[in-house]
Amino acid sequence: MAAPGQSSQSATDQPEKLYLPQMTTYPDEGTVGQAAADLVAEKLRLKPASVLLLPTGRTPLPMYARLVARWRAERPDLSPVQTFNLDEFYGLPPDHPGSYRTYMRRVLFDHLPVPSDNYHLLNGAAADPTEECRAYEAKIEAAGGVDLAVLGIGANGHIGFNEPGSTLASRTRLVTIEPTTRAANAFLFDQRLDAVPQTALTVGIATILASRQVLLLVTGPSKAVALTHLLTGPVSPDFPASFLRLHPQVTILADREASSS
Ligand code: GLP
Repeated sequence: MAAPGQSSQSATDQPEKLYLPQMTTYPDEGTVGQAAADLVAEKLRLKPASVLLLPTGRTPLPMYARLVARWRAERPDLSPVQTFNLDEFYGLPPDHPGSYRTYMRRVLFDHLPVPSDNYHLLNGAAADPTEECRAYEAKIEAAGGVDLAVLGIGANGHIGFNEPGSTLASRTRLVTIEPTTRAANAFLFDQRLDAVPQTALTVGIATILASRQVLLLVTGPSKAVALTHLLTGPVSPDFPASFLRLHPQVTILADREASSS
C-alpha cells in the first residue's frame, strides 16, 4: 500500500488495485441492446429516482429502441428519473440536427413521457464553456450523483469525448475531438466530415468513475482491438477507457464480433 498522500502506483507504474469487469458476450448488437435495456429498466424498477449518465453514437441505438418499446408497453412512471448525457458538440445550437440533444430526442425522449426538466445535456452553444461545465458537475452532484453510467467506446479508447491524453482526474470540460472520432460521428452530419465540430464538452474520467455502476456496450468488429486493450492493456491516459478497470462495478456487454480479437 502507498503511504497516505502518495500515489498508489506499483513498480510497473500500474495502479495497485485493478478490477476485472464482468463481461457477457451476446450473438449480435440486437441482443446486446436487449440486455442493456433490461439492465437499465431493472435499475429504474428498483430505484425509480435513478440518475443515469447516457451515451450517444451508433452502439446504444438498439438499447434505446428496446427501452422505448418496453416503456411504451409497460408505461412506468418515468417522472422521478434524471438523465445526464456524457457529452455534446461545442459550437452547435442545441436544436441543430447533428447535436446530441437532437439525437437523444429522436431516439428516446420524444417517444416517452419524460419531463424535459428531467433530462440534461451540456449546452454546446454556451458562451462560457468553463461555467457551463462547472454548472453541469454541480447539477449532477445536486441530483445525488450518477447511479448508472452507460457508455460506448471509441476505437481509440475514448469514452464520452475523453480522447487519448485525458487524465484520471479530468472533470467536465471543453476538449478537442480527434479526426478519427470526428469521422465516426459524420453519420450525424450527412457524412459531411467538415460539418462535424472540432470541439466538444464532455464529462471527465473522474466524473464517470464517480458513478456507482458502469455499463459498457461494445459491438462490431471495429471495436475488437479496443475491447482487448481495455481488458488487458496498461491503465493509462493513452487509452482512457482503461481507467474503467479502476472501478469495482463495471459490466461489459459485448457482441461476438467485438469479442473475437
Ligand atoms: C462518440 C461519442 C461517444 C461514443 C462514441 C462511440 O464519439 N462521443 O460517447 O461512445 O462515439 O460511437 P459509436 O457507438 O458510434 O461507435
